[in-house]
Amino acid sequence: MDNKTIQQAKQRYGIVGNYEGLNRCIDIAIQVAPTELSVLIYGESGVGKEVLPRLIHDNSSRKHNKYFAINCGSLPEGTIDSELFGHKKGSFTGALDDREGYFSVANNGTLFLDEVGELPLATQARLLRVLETGEYIRVGESEVRKTNVRIVAATNVNMQKAIREGKFREDLYYRLNTIPINMPPLRERGRDIELLFRKFAYDISEKYRIDPVRLTDEARDLLLRYKWPGNIRQLRNLVEQISIISKERDITPDILSTYGVTDDSLGETGLILHGANREQHSTGAHSYEKERDMLFQLLSSIGKEVKDLKEFVHNNIGTMQSVPAEHFDLYDEDAAGISVDAPMQYTRQPVIQPQHPYVVNEQHYQQQGRTPYESHNIQDVDVETIEETPLSNRELMKKNIIDSLKRNNGNRKKTAHELDISERTLYRKIKDYGLDI
Ligand SMILES: Nc1ncnc2c1ncn2[C@@H]1O[C@H](COP(=O)(O)OP(=O)(O)O)[C@@H](O)[C@H]1O
Ligand SMILES: [Mg+2]
Repeated sequence: MDNKTIQQAKQRYGIVGNYEGLNRCIDIAIQVAPTELSVLIYGESGVGKEVLPRLIHDNSSRKHNKYFAINCGSLPEGTIDSELFGHKKGSFTGALDDREGYFSVANNGTLFLDEVGELPLATQARLLRVLETGEYIRVGESEVRKTNVRIVAATNVNMQKAIREGKFREDLYYRLNTIPINMPPLRERGRDIELLFRKFAYDISEKYRIDPVRLTDEARDLLLRYKWPGNIRQLRNLVEQISIISKERDITPDILSTYGVTDDSLGETGLILHGANREQHSTGAHSYEKERDMLFQLLSSIGKEVKDLKEFVHNNIGTMQSVPAEHFDLYDEDAAGISVDAPMQYTRQPVIQPQHPYVVNEQHYQQQGRTPYESHNIQDVDVETIEETPLSNRELMKKNIIDSLKRNNGNRKKTAHELDISERTLYRKIKDYGLDI
């Protein structure tokens, strides 16, 4: 594939970076697009997997038909079959009408199955059948239906391990993995880290009409050494936070350290702070001491951020009145469960909205006039109260739960695991904090 085609694709999809491993992924995606082959995209969380299925769809003969992105990890096990394959009215409590599933509405189009490693075994059996024969049966029916859907899947779990542990069917794995694409983690991408920093700094400066933040040479070197457990998503969130909160525009290692990016952290402490995938990044025995240190670190950095935010609000109170709170999207829309449309700058397509009660629902907050990330409108902030009231344990726990749910696409099991609390405790707290819908 000539370099020009790859560069054009990057431009069209807002993909930043020149790392050879990234170019190779885009190259394979463009080449495989016009075929009917199944593609399985591997990569840690936050490496940018979601752009490739869209690119494949847009460059295939299916491009005028529907494209859906489904996050298998955030669909509750009880309804996943009905979401994917549809159901017959009355087939289970709550099935008030017939329902078409994704395999029906995406006929002649493309389905992106994100986090495919999370599919329950029963659903895997149905999926294998539809992939091999094009046939499926709605939940509660016996009539065999036909469909023609191309599958692109992605995973951040080790599929070989999942197969060994009996959690993933080997035959389905081979069926999905016809063309594997490995997205490289951010820490391997060298100077791309700086390019991405600049892009995000520029984007946010445009959005809020502020001066973009810049890296000193030492800060740039630190970012190149850092391990980035949350990859590009983590980098983007970091740049957004620094751009809004820091008074300095020249970013030094000292400033980075207040956001948890230091030479000692080098990504290892990222379990809570940065949303690392515990399975892939934990270094061995569980260390409560380390987590306690991290919590203290988190507490003190939150304290500092609140103080800075207070000053920011105070200094900008005149201009802030015209900025609706929801524009402060420190909230990561990537993590809001099923993404049913394009991940970057694509033309939005008509979509159906599946129900998935397990995510912290943006609408829920909007109904209450609040943003998902903060529990109150920025205009309502009482500057004095912020100073007097450091975050209570309860608020801290609530924030951790919200952040963790977002990182795990609403998956409560993973959230409980990440926060090291039982699922039952998590359910109780979600209810208690009013996070359920
Ligand atoms: N090369 C890139 N250039 C610009 N933005 C990127 C790039 N890779 C990822 N992103 C952004 O990073 C975020 C995480 O990407 P995403 O595709 O959701 O990751 P994954 O699905 O692998 O967890 C998204 O906001 C995406 O737009
Ligand atoms: Mg994703």
